[in-house]
This record gives sequence, C-alpha cells and structure tokens, in this order.
Amino acid sequence: MDPRLLLARSFPPGSPALGIVTRHGEQVAARALAAADRLRALNPDRAFLEEAALLHDIGVALTDSPQIGCHGREPYIRHGVLGREILEREGLPRHALVCERHVGAGMTAEEIRRQGLPLPVRDMLPVTLEEEILCWADKFYSKTGERSPAVKSLEEILAGLRRFGEEPVARFLALHARFA
Ligand SMILES: [Fe+2]
Repeated sequence: MDPRLLLARSFPPGSPALGIVTRHGEQVAARALAAADRLRALNPDRAFLEEAALLHDIGVALTDSPQIGCHGREPYIRHGVLGREILEREGLPRHALVCERHVGAGMTAEEIRRQGLPLPVRDMLPVTLEEEILCWADKFYSKTGERSPAVKSLEEILAGLRRFGEEPVARFLALHARFA
C-alpha cells in the first residue's frame, strides 16, 4: 500500500488540496516519528505511524473546503469519519481509526451530542499509542498553506481546542506531557 497513491486517487487531479494534505501529512509524520524515537521503550509501530500520518486527512477530499480546493458537500468536521469510511473500503481498518480519532483532541460521544455536531454519537478518542501520538502531532500544523512552514504554538493549539470546551484542552495537555 502506497499512501501517496491512495491520496492521489482521492483528491481531484491538480487540486491544491492534494499537495497541501500531502505536505501536512509529512509534517505530522516527522513529528510523530520524532516522538516515537523518544518513546522507544513503548515500541511504537513506526511504519504504521508514517503511513497513517500521510492518510489521516484523506477524508478532507469529500468536504466543502474551497480554500484548499475541495468542493465536496460534507462539513469539514466530518473529514475524520469520512476518512475512516474511505480507508475501511481500502481494507485499512487500523489506519481508518486514526482518521476518526484524530479530530480535535478526540471527541467523546457526550461532547458530540452536547454540541450538536454533525457526527455519529460515539466516542472518537484516540485509544492506541499510535492513535494518541498522531492526534497530538496533528495539532501543530494547519492546512491553510499560508502559514508555511510555521508550527502552531502551544497557546494557539489550546485556543483552538477551547472552542470545543475545556475537556479537549485537558486531553491535549495530557498527551503533550507524554509526547513533547
Ligand atoms: Fe491533520
């Protein structure tokens, strides 16, 4: 399985989104692998981290995100569950769960219900070590392009998560304490 080929098949040919999502995936992969080096004692799956980092935002292809050239019908917040569906169809159930569980600092069923988010009401929290590392690493990089190559500060990350309440802020800080 070549993650880059899979991305190329999912995004409209020539759209800026393919380049943006690929570069974003590479940035997330680099940070995840650096964390994996520090966490050697826990034996994280490095090949999986790299593949899943490249693929975690594949669902963006189906969303309405005109600023990066995606003209689907789905709201952006659904890119995780959409990515899960795409990768399950590709026979990649383990990578698929990274898609579903990386958005924000993960989401609980209760948070989805309370905020009326357009998502299935189920827990979408990162569970495995690799899911946790990728959820954490993803938060440092935007996909809008104009920030290149800037990395988000901790303050920016926390401000973004706080829009969804204090629970995701606390979950991110717990991941950050383990992986930074
Ligand atoms: Fe991402």
